[in-house]
Amino acid sequence: MKNPRSPSDLAIIILAAGKGSRMKSALPKVMHKIAGRSMLEWLIERAENLNPQKIIVVTAPNMEDVANVAKPHFIAIQQEQKGTGDAVKSALADLKDFQGRVLILMGDEPFVDEDILNQMIAYDGIAVMTVSPPDTFGQGRVITDDDGYLIRIVEHKDATDEERKIQLCNAGNMCVPADKIHNWAQALNCDNAQGEYYLTDIPKIAAQEGVKAKIFNVRSDVNWGINNRVQLAEHEARAQQILREDAMMNGATMIDPSSVTLSWDTELGEDVIIEPNVFIGPWTSIGDNVTIFAGSYIEGAIIDEGAEIGPYARIRPKSVIETGASVGNFIEVNRSIIKAGAKAKHVSYLGDAVIGEKSNVGAGTIIANYDGFFKHKTTIGERVFVGSNSTIIAPVTIGDGAIIAAGSNINKDIDTNALAIARSKQENHAGWATQYRYVKKEQKQNEQDDD
Ligand code: UD1
Ligand code: MG
Repeated sequence: MKNPRSPSDLAIIILAAGKGSRMKSALPKVMHKIAGRSMLEWLIERAENLNPQKIIVVTAPNMEDVANVAKPHFIAIQQEQKGTGDAVKSALADLKDFQGRVLILMGDEPFVDEDILNQMIAYDGIAVMTVSPPDTFGQGRVITDDDGYLIRIVEHKDATDEERKIQLCNAGNMCVPADKIHNWAQALNCDNAQGEYYLTDIPKIAAQEGVKAKIFNVRSDVNWGINNRVQLAEHEARAQQILREDAMMNGATMIDPSSVTLSWDTELGEDVIIEPNVFIGPWTSIGDNVTIFAGSYIEGAIIDEGAEIGPYARIRPKSVIETGASVGNFIEVNRSIIKAGAKAKHVSYLGDAVIGEKSNVGAGTIIANYDGFFKHKTTIGERVFVGSNSTIIAPVTIGDGAIIAAGSNINKDIDTNALAIARSKQENHAGWATQYRYVKKEQKQNEQDDD
């Protein structure tokens, strides 16, 4: 649902400065990826969909990666991680003259429900997102009055045993009026079990002014926070399921969907067939009628219509596999273009190369593109036949229609339609093997007699 409001009356604060200590990671929590994209990028996309006047991402000193992802939006630095309430305070300087609604989003809830957010924005008081997750451990519990309005939120660590039995939890996201939040945030204290400024104390403070807080409940399978890697994996599983279902609904066949990994931006055409155990990393686009055989790994590549990949192929970034081309088993393609109808079917490394239309790369061909310091380019023309077990030492250019004899080491350019043989010459010696066996047998017999 697109929000019909005017964009001038909504500001969004995304809290992303937390250390994420439960992740046990050197990486800021919001930089951990789901389907190849950071949590923060997922959330910023949802925030942008709400069409706000500004988005402020709260980050910490030395979190340049978070700030980079947040661009071009506003960045507020929370100097010390003193809690979610303190994080909001550090963003308020950017909202001094702002009038309207302020939506506060937890950076660790990337799949927040946009429809519910729109309802929260439209409500004219404090709107608090709530959820009843299967596991309530660690969540703030929501205490409501008889009319269902929120009285206060008690954090897990501050809650009594009785309060911990409450199933209704705070999902973290809150929408507040801009003209009030400055004073309410000033009134926060850190008199609690964690010694932090809790955003969750805002409704209690507002209630003293007679401002009621309304709850907006979300399905527990749609919205919950990521505090550790188990929850990260749960989100990954859910994202994968959605991506796979979308792909199948749009005409891709998956023989064993649960074994296929896609990325947030994977583009799949119609009548694509994906066999089991296929991994598709970010920036990959796959055209109609492509078959990806089992065990293949593709990232950052364009696979054009009707191409065949694998089984067990690896297509690395900046590669293009053009229409009807075939990259078979145990082939690695790296920064290379395999032109229309070209084939490399068995056990090859093709790096920094262009393989011309309808060329055939024989089994075991290696393009030696790296001299230990620099990478070099190889250009192979159209209808070239590269015999098996050839090594092509870049830089080299091979003309259209050329033939390379099997087992060659090629390090010079080859003219159009030429034959190149670059291997040691074979010698055949008539009867030599018979003579050899006779001599060796004699030697062996003599040694045994001596024993
Ligand atoms: C928070 C809520 C809890 C709710 C849960 C839902 C508070 C006090 N508690 O707990 O009621 O059930 O979310 O997921 O709000 N952050 C900062 N600066 C800080 C601390 C945190 O920017 O000083 C950011 C984090 O990066 C994170 C978000 O705020 O994106 C939430 O912080 P987190 O520590 O995960 O809070 P929870 O313990 O999950
Ligand atoms: Mg959290």
